[in-house]
Order: sequence, then structure tokens, then C-alpha cells
Amino acid sequence: MVKMRMAISLSARKFSTFASHPMRVCVVGSGPAGFYTAEKLLKTHEGAQVDIIDRLPTPFGLVRSGVAPDHQETKVVVNQFSRVAVSERCSFFGNVCLGTSVSLSELRDLYHVVVLSFGAESDRVLGIPGEDLKGIYAAREFVWWYNGHPDCRKLSPVLKSTDSAVILGQGNVALDIARILLRPTSELSTTDIASHALEALEESSIRKVYLVGRRGPVQAACTAKELREVLGIKNLYVNIQKDDLRVTPTDEVEMKNSRINRRIYELLSKAAQSGTQSAAPGQRELHFVFFRKPESFLASNVGGSKVVGVKLEKTMLNQRDGPGKQIAVGTGEYAHIDSGMVLKSIGYKSIPVDGLPFDHRKGVVPNIKGRVLGNNVDGSPHPQPGLYVCGWLKRGPTGIIATNLYCAEETVASITEDLEQGSLPSPLKLPKPGREGLSQLLKSRNVRLVPFSGWEKIDAEERRLGSLKNKPREKLASWEELLEIANQ
Ligand SMILES: Cc1cc2nc3c(=O)[nH]c(=O)nc-3n(C[C@H](O)[C@H](O)[C@H](O)COP(=O)(O)OP(=O)(O)OC[C@H]3O[C@@H](n4cnc5c(N)ncnc54)[C@H](O)[C@@H]3O)c2cc1C
Ligand SMILES: NC(=O)c1ccc[n+]([C@@H]2O[C@H](COP(=O)([O-])OP(=O)(O)OC[C@H]3O[C@@H](n4cnc5c(N)ncnc54)[C@H](OP(=O)(O)O)[C@@H]3O)[C@@H](O)[C@H]2O)c1
Repeated sequence: MVKMRMAISLSARKFSTFASHPMRVCVVGSGPAGFYTAEKLLKTHEGAQVDIIDRLPTPFGLVRSGVAPDHQETKVVVNQFSRVAVSERCSFFGNVCLGTSVSLSELRDLYHVVVLSFGAESDRVLGIPGEDLKGIYAAREFVWWYNGHPDCRKLSPVLKSTDSAVILGQGNVALDIARILLRPTSELSTTDIASHALEALEESSIRKVYLVGRRGPVQAACTAKELREVLGIKNLYVNIQKDDLRVTPTDEVEMKNSRINRRIYELLSKAAQSGTQSAAPGQRELHFVFFRKPESFLASNVGGSKVVGVKLEKTMLNQRDGPGKQIAVGTGEYAHIDSGMVLKSIGYKSIPVDGLPFDHRKGVVPNIKGRVLGNNVDGSPHPQPGLYVCGWLKRGPTGIIATNLYCAEETVASITEDLEQGSLPSPLKLPKPGREGLSQLLKSRNVRLVPFSGWEKIDAEERRLGSLKNKPREKLASWEELLEIANQ
């Protein structure tokens, strides 16, 4: 086994040292999965040339547009990614969208290896009546809005016309949103929150936030650090129904098996015991609502277009499925929460592109250890030569930044193995145009590509603007501004 591993790595290095015939690799998506893949590939294959394309003029995916503005320390990872981007054998092509600027088959013709890591840029839907009413947003849109993603610059959430917001889901994204809605804006003003969002939050009339989970406190999908943080918001009234904290023997087993679940339950129990009976006048309120699933959204009047509340069905857990697998089933008992704003934080979903095998049920690209699987004529699955996947597109929309490091290691190991076993054509025998070919193609299509130096101009301008306001950066949040500064 050791011998075999040595053989693989020696051969991969030998193969890669022909600088005149580099292995041309294109990574699609510059989030954590894309950058970890590029870094690992550059380290493992000395002769590899890696181009990272992203549909935005800015790199770093959800580290820039997802991670909450009051989590600045998490964003330090971009320094590591920037070192990869400026390395000699790496190039960044911003403002290049797979599917519109260039097709998948074109990329596969231009490169020996294409690694898809373009994340999950859509949303799971509930499929219940009223889901299209005004005032209902996907968590992704709201997060993009406060993080200055150019696609949601104009969202204008209805923060001034209601005193309460309902968040459906109890994962970490839901907690991020609750924190942004409830935290004093004075504490957000020194973060890199988009200024349009800060101004809107300063004028927000929302005082009550309901975090609704279809299961119980033992199954809440958040993690302890994030829960502690939201519970620790200054002068916040926290409401948790004591009845919801009753646990079954199956819950006990779940807590025994998972330290995270136990910790969450303990934090919630402690918060329920230490709180006051009711909120003081003017105090902001956070209500945890467990064992309730959304049944429909309520409109302002018959045929009205604005949401005014959510009808919820009480649930109980089906314990036949055993510890760790309990699911919520409706009991036929209903109640509703009045609210002019609803945020659906029930998970993200990937968007397929033409020519890419896609599992619509799971919302991922079918793969074995990162090798994209297509179908033979007889329907049997087989790996698509030279096509790989990584990150949320590979595993589904779960996991923290570091999870993508392990994910990238697995995908790169598959690439290395395929090179060794000859299932990838040798760059010596089949040179490909790679970077030069892509640049020519994009030029012929008048795509205004943004190189990493263009991003560095954006970065410098954002930092300059931020320094005037005591913020780490003031994000440029429109396509026009971003492209203008990048192309100066
Ligand atoms: C709201 C939120 C907050 C989070 N906070 C944290 C946190 O605090 N700490 C933590 O560890 N983890 C956090 N995570 C999880 C972490 O962000 C993810 O694990 C990680 O970003 C997933 O990496 P990815 O590269 O697969 O996708 P992404 O980060 O989404 O990157 C995908 C990239 O692909 C690009 N792209 C999309 N479509 C195309 C296309 N057609 N052509 C070209 N490019 C395209 C996008 O512009 C993007 O740059 C958070 C997640 C969310 C949703
Ligand atoms: N600070 C951080 O580290 C940080 C911050 C943000 C995000 N992240 C990570 O990013 C990933 C994505 O987070 P996420 O919050 O989007 O997803 P998530 O953790 O999967 O949570 C999704 C939530 O939606 C609920 N849900 C799903 N479908 C539903 C339905 N049909 N009806 C009602 N509720 C439904 C789930 O309940 P069930 O449990 O019952 O399915 C769960 O509460 C996670 O891995 C998260 O940890 C990390």
C-alpha cells in the first residue's frame, strides 16, 4: 500500500514537471472549495496551471457574501486564499459565468481537468400556499443583501412596516439572521456590513423575532457557539416554552450520542430558566418556537399580496425512526404568528448548468469521491473523464469553511489517482489551450473579465472607504461600481 502511494506521488510529480506542457486545470467558483482545491492541486502537481473562474468580480464566495459581518475573525481565511491566487501558476478570472460567458463543454475542451465548485446559489422551497407573498424572503437573499452581494443590492426588505419577523428554520444561518435583526446597530456599524443594510436596520421597527423549528430543542440544527452568541445579545428578552424542553428517552439517547445536541439543549434550558416572565417595555424579544411546521402563509386580505403571518401546525416526533432520525409529523393542531416579514432559512440548493449530470432530488452533482458521474447508454453510472466536483455542489449545502478543505483533498486525490491510472489524458500527449484559449474566447465575446489585480483594486477602494467610517471595509455593492473600480 505504502509502495503504491509512493509510486503514485512520484509519477504525478514526474508527470507534472514538464512546464512546456502543463496540466491545465479550471476551477469554477472561488469560494472555500475552489480555493482549497486550487491550493492542493498546485502543491501536489508541480507543473499544474490552475485558473479559477467566478461569476462575480470578487472572489471568496460565501466568506464574503455569507459569513456574518460581526464574524470578522472568520474572514481571515481570505489571506490564505489570496496567497494562492497570486501564486505564479494560478490565475483568477472574475466576472466569468459558467453557463453564460462560457459553457461546460467549452471548458472541457480547453482544459485537461475541470473542477466544479460553484456552491449552492438557490433555495429550498416549502411548497405551501402563499410562498410568493411580498415580505417573504429566502435567507440567502437577506444574507446577500446585508453582505453587499450585487444581486441583492435592491432587495429592500420590509423592515419598517412590521414589528416582528418570523424565521423558519433553526440552523446557523437562521441564528445569523436573528442576530443581525436584533443586535444593536451601534455594534454592527464597525463591521463590514453593507451601508444600505446598516441604514435600513437603523430604521427597522422589528422588535420581535420568532425562530421556528419543526423539531425540538434536542434536534435544533445550530451549533453552541452561535447559539450562545444570539442568547448573549445585550438587553434581549428570550422566550422558550418550558413544555418544549421535556425530553423523551429517544432524545436522551440522541444527547448521549452527540455532545453538540446536549450542549444546545443545556444552553436552551438555561436560557429558559434564567429569563424574566415577560419583556420589559421597548426590550427586543427572541422567541424560540419548537415543534411547529409551516402550513401556509397568511395574506393581508383575501387575494392580498402581502404576508401578515404564518399558519403553523403543531408537530410531534416520530420515534419509530430511532435516535438521530426522528422526524416531525403534523398533529392537526394549528396556530399562527402575526408577522409582516418572513425569512425562510430552510437550506440552500445548487443550480445545475447545461451538460452537467445533476441529482435534482438531492440537489447535488452525482459523484464518487469528487469524480462526476454521468450515465452510460444503458443507464449505468460512469465517471466523466476530467470532470470533478467539490464543496456544497458535491456534498449538499452543509458544513463550515474547513469542511471544504477535507472535501478538496478528496477530490484532488481522485484527480491524482486518475492521472496515474491513465483515465485522464497525459498533457504531454494531448496539450490543451487552457488559460490562453479561455482568454481568447472571452475576448471574442466581449466579457469584461476581472483579473485578481482588478479585485485588488476593489479591495483597496473598499478598505479606503471603510477607514473613513471606522469599518474594516465599505463594500461596493453594485455591479456597476465593482466593474468600474476593477477596470480602472
Ligand atoms: C449565511 C452563511 C453563513 C456562513 N457562515 C459561516 C461561518 O461563520 N463560518 C464557517 O466556517 N462557515 C460558514 N458558512 C459555511 C461556508 O460558507 C460554506 O461551507 C462554504 O462557503 C461553501 O463553500 P463552496 O466553495 O462550496 O461555495 P461558495 O462559498 O458558495 O462559493 C461558490 C462560488 O461559486 C461562484 N459561482 C456560482 N455560480 C457560478 C457560475 N455559474 N459560474 C462561475 N462562478 C459561479 C459564486 O460566486 C461563489 O464565489 C456559512 C454559510 C452561509 C450560507
Ligand atoms: N457560524 C457558522 O459556523 C455558520 C454560520 C452559518 C452557516 N453555517 C453552516 O452552513 C450550513 C448551512 O446552514 P443552514 O442554516 O442553511 O442549514 P441547516 O443547518 O441544514 O438548517 C436548516 C434548518 O431548516 C430546517 N428545515 C429544512 N427543511 C424544512 C422544512 N421543509 N420545513 C421546516 N423546516 C425545515 C431544518 O430543520 P430539520 O433539522 O428538522 O431538518 C433546520 O432547522 C450548515 O452546515 C451551517 O452549520 C455555519
